[in-house]
Amino acid sequence: MKPSRRMSRRESLQWLGVGAATLAAGSLTDCQPQTEQPKPASSPAEPEESPQVIADRERRQKWWHAAKFGMFIHWGLYSVYGHHEWAMEEEGIPVAEYEQLAKQFKPKPQAARAWAKLAKQAGQKYMVMTSKHHEGFCNFDTKLTNYCAPKQGPGRDLVAEYVEAARAEGLRVGFYYSLMDWHHPDGARCAKDEAARQRFVEYTHGLVRELVTNYGKIDVLWYDVDWPLDAKGWESEKMNEMVFKLQPDIIVNNRNGLPGDFSTPEQEIRAAKSGRAWESCMTMNDSWGYQRADDNWKSAKTLVRNVVECAQGGGNYLLNIGPKGDGSIPEESVQRLTEVGKWMDKHGPTIYETERSQVDSSVMAGFTRKGKTLYVHVYNWPGSTVAVGGLRTKVRSAKLFTSGRKVDVKQEDLRVQFTGLPEKAPEEPVTTIEVECDGEPVQDTEWVRKERPRRGVGI
Ligand code: GLC
Repeated sequence: MKPSRRMSRRESLQWLGVGAATLAAGSLTDCQPQTEQPKPASSPAEPEESPQVIADRERRQKWWHAAKFGMFIHWGLYSVYGHHEWAMEEEGIPVAEYEQLAKQFKPKPQAARAWAKLAKQAGQKYMVMTSKHHEGFCNFDTKLTNYCAPKQGPGRDLVAEYVEAARAEGLRVGFYYSLMDWHHPDGARCAKDEAARQRFVEYTHGLVRELVTNYGKIDVLWYDVDWPLDAKGWESEKMNEMVFKLQPDIIVNNRNGLPGDFSTPEQEIRAAKSGRAWESCMTMNDSWGYQRADDNWKSAKTLVRNVVECAQGGGNYLLNIGPKGDGSIPEESVQRLTEVGKWMDKHGPTIYETERSQVDSSVMAGFTRKGKTLYVHVYNWPGSTVAVGGLRTKVRSAKLFTSGRKVDVKQEDLRVQFTGLPEKAPEEPVTTIEVECDGEPVQDTEWVRKERPRRGVGI
């Protein structure tokens, strides 16, 4: 089996030889089941975190929980080639041939400004850009390799431009960093050769050190693919310690073999167990890096639904753009993010700073919550009545969120109905009803299934 874009990350990594133990260890949370299962009695208990550790994480992550929506940017030599960021591996391109792209990479000046402006307009509150992807090319200035933007085609530090652009729009700044490296001579042999491992770990820690030293305050460090080593091999504890020492407020993800501050389900929305932070990262078509032929674009409606669904589960949505080699954003992405931005502009308060919603079951709507207020985000507008089954909390009042128009409420044991609504959806692509409840809204769909009075059959 060869790794393909359709392959899940778990499958790709298994193909690449990542051991079952690493996968089972849960560092790759996109592999976790939908609802986290109780651990079998024989498995070792997770180490307890001290209240100080938990409090410190809460402090560092407060802005991120409120933010809910961020922009992921995949940009590198693969953007020049335009065949997806895995092209080097997937097409079996020899290193010397692939390296030629480094000379051809000539982005227009300050390309990141347009990304940051678009992110802001879309309602995204932070950005995470690839500083180095699997291809091994560093978009930043480094003393450790010549395979980096200032010493190749771009002739300047692209990460510095990105950081400046994000800050100019008031957005938080994140760096993606791939541990896996297809270019570095030790990138694969480090698994079998201890001297190579030591050299490669020194190189890796050195690059990460530069990233968290040279650009001021960095808000997120987003590791990726820890093939072919494990946390021990990468000396990940030491790496994170160094990162936190240099950036005491940063948050880090879980892809260097350690749990980190948050889980990273990929290309799917899967809430972590309550209390664990998570962020779903997703492409707008099927490619992270620019792939000119990929036209499988998600609609703006799907993207808004996804923002809602993440917020519903208490998570974040990190939505990707794959700029071209010159730094311009594919028009399809601009259009969609602009649409999403129009919606976010009006509905922002129903998304930002919301809490995980226990109410989550409907075939026409998603839900977010702030205290006792439930936001019903209707994406399949049914007509004059919107019903939610199994809502066990008393509803006090309801209104359409954007217009403030009062909505009549009819509440019965099994359901609540919002009535007298227009036949056509008042808002596109999603209409939001704000519902004031007596307490924290609770839904019990099991109760509906079990307790709904049945009719006799054959009587
Ligand atoms: C996977 C892919 C990579 C992409 C990343 C984003 O690990 O290998 O191309 O950058 O997911 O989450």
